[in-house]
Amino acid sequence: MTTLAENSHRFPLQVTLHNTAIVFRPLTSACRGAMLDFARDLPEQDLLFLDRDIAQPAVVDQWVRDVADGRLATIAAWRDNGIVGYATTARGNVRWSRHVADLRVVVAEGYRGLGLGRWLLELVFEMALEAGATKLVARMTPDQTGALSLFRHLGFEQEAVLRDHALDANGLTHDLIVLSFHTRQHPDNRCGSCGVAVLAPLLLEGDRLCSHCYESRYEELGSGD
Ligand SMILES: CC(C)(COP(=O)(O)OP(=O)(O)OC[C@H]1O[C@@H](n2cnc3c(N)ncnc32)[C@H](O)[C@@H]1OP(=O)(O)O)[C@@H](O)C(=O)NCCC(=O)NCCS
Repeated sequence: MTTLAENSHRFPLQVTLHNTAIVFRPLTSACRGAMLDFARDLPEQDLLFLDRDIAQPAVVDQWVRDVADGRLATIAAWRDNGIVGYATTARGNVRWSRHVADLRVVVAEGYRGLGLGRWLLELVFEMALEAGATKLVARMTPDQTGALSLFRHLGFEQEAVLRDHALDANGLTHDLIVLSFHTRQHPDNRCGSCGVAVLAPLLLEGDRLCSHCYESRYEELGSGD
């Protein structure tokens, strides 16, 4: 079993989504300024329920250290010199939940609808599985409608509603919906080339691929969408 810090993905990974060139890279200290700019541009309601206040430099520094230590994995999506989204996965931190990984994703408002959220989730999903996870969990409030649609679209199912479980920055409580994805219930979600388990295959030239095979094929073709 590998840790989240040791995964076989080759980064940077470049793709073109609706004619927009995007580069995916793991979070490092070099991302600090760009991540703070990204956070400051996010709508307030999207910042309310992040597990960390990523607009704070010290919080981003701790986040970078946690990634380096393998406590969680974060992939940032870059457009030119700016971050336009990220996804994280963290493994259960007690022994009996080590097969469970949390997934989170946020995309900049101006880059939604391009397939970026889906790409980011695919990358962290594959990293979580490589590290031994078999159950993936995402949590969100009922008003995070875009996120609910995205996760349901990818096969996540509602598992629980935790009443008044989330407290926002204004002191108001919100219900929290827990969605889950059990890999054993999706045995057919496999890369059409190498057969590795995928969340939702990435389509390239009619093939249904994992991110590794997508990257190799994309390089061969010299472009993609
Ligand atoms: C949720 C979020 C990450 C989606 O990112 P995105 O890059 O726009 O998503 P994608 O373009 O990859 O969408 C993939 C699929 O998800 C669904 N989807 C995404 N956003 C949707 C929305 N607002 N309404 C309906 N469906 C949506 C669609 O089915 C879409 O499939 P399609 O392209 O075939 O239509 C983005 O809206 C966001 O950052 N929201 C705020 C943060 C948040 O709530 N995070 C969740 C916490 S875990």
